[in-house]
Amino acid sequence: MTSTHAFWLAGRQATGEAAFDVTSPWDGRVVGTASVPSDAQVEEAVAAAYAVRDEFAATPAHVRAAALDQVSRRLAERTEEIARLISAESGKPMKWARGEVGRAVSVFRFASEEARRFNGGEAQRLDTDAGGQGRLAFTRRFPKGVVLGIAPFNFPLNLCAHKIAPAIAAGVPIILKPAPATPLSALILGELLAETELPAGSWSILPVPNDRMPALVQDERLPVISFTGSEKVGYAIMDSVPRKHCTLELGGNGAAVVLADWASDEDLDRAAQRIATFSNYQGGQSCISVQRVIADASVYDRLLPRIVAAVEAQVTGDPGDDATDVGPLVSEAAAQRVEAWVQEAVEAGATLLTGGKRDGASYAPTVLTDVPDEVTISCEEVFGPVLTVRKADGEAAAFAAVNDSKYGLQAGVFTHDLQTAFRAHRALEVGGVVVGDVPSYRADQMPYGGAKQSGVGREGVKFAMDDYTYERVMVLTGLHL
Ligand code: SIN
Repeated sequence: MTSTHAFWLAGRQATGEAAFDVTSPWDGRVVGTASVPSDAQVEEAVAAAYAVRDEFAATPAHVRAAALDQVSRRLAERTEEIARLISAESGKPMKWARGEVGRAVSVFRFASEEARRFNGGEAQRLDTDAGGQGRLAFTRRFPKGVVLGIAPFNFPLNLCAHKIAPAIAAGVPIILKPAPATPLSALILGELLAETELPAGSWSILPVPNDRMPALVQDERLPVISFTGSEKVGYAIMDSVPRKHCTLELGGNGAAVVLADWASDEDLDRAAQRIATFSNYQGGQSCISVQRVIADASVYDRLLPRIVAAVEAQVTGDPGDDATDVGPLVSEAAAQRVEAWVQEAVEAGATLLTGGKRDGASYAPTVLTDVPDEVTISCEEVFGPVLTVRKADGEAAAFAAVNDSKYGLQAGVFTHDLQTAFRAHRALEVGGVVVGDVPSYRADQMPYGGAKQSGVGREGVKFAMDDYTYERVMVLTGLHL
């Protein structure tokens, strides 16, 4: 027996005439049934969000902050149940699903803190030039308009939290569309938001099918689009609404660089462990998972066997088991695509050191070397548990190899040297450089987003609040400053 999950229309539960089953990628069981809003219900949600925008912007900060605090607390209380749901609908192992709930707890807490700090107003004296004598500029931020948030399947709770919590913190209404594969974790967030006193219409969570999204994307009442997902869909959205404000969090092919000074046995063991863990966490389905290792020639021969051993030690299997490190991908089709890319690389001359096997939606943790530059896995985001390892002669060559990609989301640099860290920060064309660790480190309060084809704009609670709002200056005249 599975339950039908209502959606959230302007803060209240509703059901539509259609529904679809959400299945577990691990064993194909039906996890739940998600009700689909009709066009009329979507219209109702958009109209309500549009109508409430002034009231919501004027809602006192303490009210919005209290609601965000409450959601954070309730998420923490329901961690185990919500982690089970994330794991069931996405195939994410429980250890990572619990971690995701913990992150969402923090996102709502950070948002409540930012709501209290936000928009204090900044004064700037203008009498620094004769023409500005007696004048003061006073700046506050105001909403750009209702946000349309479009979330992906790989963090079905936390990447929804990253869209909704900053909107509430900034007093901006939001319509959230979760991924079709994983709507249930977003809908449970609706249960917690519905326990708060936020104004009706300030938030809706609507599992609108992808083929009905173009109309919503075009809707002029939704001038801000915050999208996380594939490069292809992200840029198609942006190109279809060139006059809207679009934030795109797209793909990456995260590189971990291991430099010559990271050379002790302890150093290499740690790098190998971190690389193996974060090329495979949630089946490699993270935009900042490690896809490429670029190792200095002086450490390469000692690092490679360590990486292979650490990858082979990853526990694969049922995502519901606490011991499992690597579960299935989101679907069998996703695993078939990864399989095809690995096969293409091997046929073109790559050496398969471990893995390379598919079983339904599961793909074995895989390590490749000697991968030709022109094959798909060298150029595109694999979004699967596959790692390529190559040698570089020195720091400059290693940094050039990182930059030899259309993507630029995050990079990791294993070095102990502060000067090298600063050179990496300057040289690497990415949104974030993580020193002494893999590119997969993300703290939810820091700016997160890409350079090049990895996207446009930044998330991270405070940065998303800035993104949803704009500065409006008021000039006061005739003052005795
Ligand atoms: C992503 O896949 O872009 C999100 C990564 C994260 O939040 O850790």
